[in-house]
Amino acid sequence: MSVHNLPSTSRAIVTGHTHGLGAALAEQLLERGFAVLGVARSRHAALAQRHTADQFEQVELDLADTTRVAQWLASGHLQRFIGAAQQVLLINNAGTVQPVGPLDMQDPLAVAQAVSLNVAAPLMLASAVTTASAQAADRRIVHISSGAARNPYSGWSVYCATKAALDHHARSVALDANRALRICSIAPGVVDTNMQAEVRASTPEQFPNRERFVEMKQSGKLTLPRDAAAKMLGYVLSDEFGTLPTTDVRELP
Ligand SMILES: NC(=O)c1ccc[n+]([C@@H]2O[C@H](COP(=O)([O-])OP(=O)(O)OC[C@H]3O[C@@H](n4cnc5c(N)ncnc54)[C@H](OP(=O)(O)O)[C@@H]3O)[C@@H](O)[C@H]2O)c1
Repeated sequence: MSVHNLPSTSRAIVTGHTHGLGAALAEQLLERGFAVLGVARSRHAALAQRHTADQFEQVELDLADTTRVAQWLASGHLQRFIGAAQQVLLINNAGTVQPVGPLDMQDPLAVAQAVSLNVAAPLMLASAVTTASAQAADRRIVHISSGAARNPYSGWSVYCATKAALDHHARSVALDANRALRICSIAPGVVDTNMQAEVRASTPEQFPNRERFVEMKQSGKLTLPRDAAAKMLGYVLSDEFGTLPTTDVRELP
C-alpha cells in the first residue's frame, strides 16, 4: 500500500467506495479535484485505471473488524494521506442492512459485525480524521444515515438502531464543533444499489415491508447512485453544510 505526497489541498476519505453510493461519491469527488482515499474490503479497479496514484488511493480493510481498524488508524497511513491539506472531508458510507429479521432470527455474530461496521468504524474514523487534520481550515464529516434512523421498521431493528446512533453522534459532535469542523448525518433516499437488491431478497418473515421496495424498483422510483451522490455533494460542499446535524437528501433544495 503506497503513500504519495499528493499535491491536492482538498482530500476526502470515503468508506465503501467500491460499489453503489460510495462509488458515485468517490468518482464525483475526484472529478471535483479532491484526492480520494477509498476504504473497503476490495478495490475499485475501474476508478483506479482512470486516475493516478496521486489522486486516488485505496485501502483494503474490513471495517467490521474493529481491531484491524484500530491497527490501521495507528499505522500512520491516514495522517500521511491528509498531510497538510486545508480541506478534509470524511464520508462514512460503508454499511450493512444485515441481519434482517426479528430478534429470534438474528445471528449474534452478524449483530456484532453490523454494529462494528455501521457504528464503531464511523465513530473511530471521525475521531482519527479530526485529530489528523488539526491544521485544516475546513473539516467536514458526513455520516451516511437512512430513513430507518428516524422511522422504525419491523425486521430492521439492528439497522434502525445503528443508523440512529450515527444521527445522535452527529447531534452531539455538532455541540462541540465549530465552523472549521462541521458534521451532518445524511439519509440518501432509496438508492438503486446492491443493498436494495439485498432488501428485495429478504423474505416477508424477515422484512414485512419488502413489497414496498419491490414496487419501488419495478416502478422506477429508486434514485440512481450518481444522482443521489450529486445532490448530496452539492450540499456537503456548500456553505450551508453543518447548520443542521441531520438531514435527508429528499429534503435538500
Ligand atoms: N441503497 C439505499 O437505498 C440506501 C438507503 C439508505 C441508506 N443507505 C446507506 O448508504 C450507504 C451505502 O449503501 P449502498 O446502498 O451503496 O450499499 P452497497 O451497494 O451494498 O455498497 C456498500 C459499500 O460498503 C462496502 N462495505 C460493506 N461492508 C464492508 C466492510 N465490512 N468493510 C469495508 N467496507 C464494506 C462495500 O465494499 P466491499 O464489498 O468492497 O467491502 C461497498 O463499497 C450505507 O451506509 C447504507 O446503509 C442506502
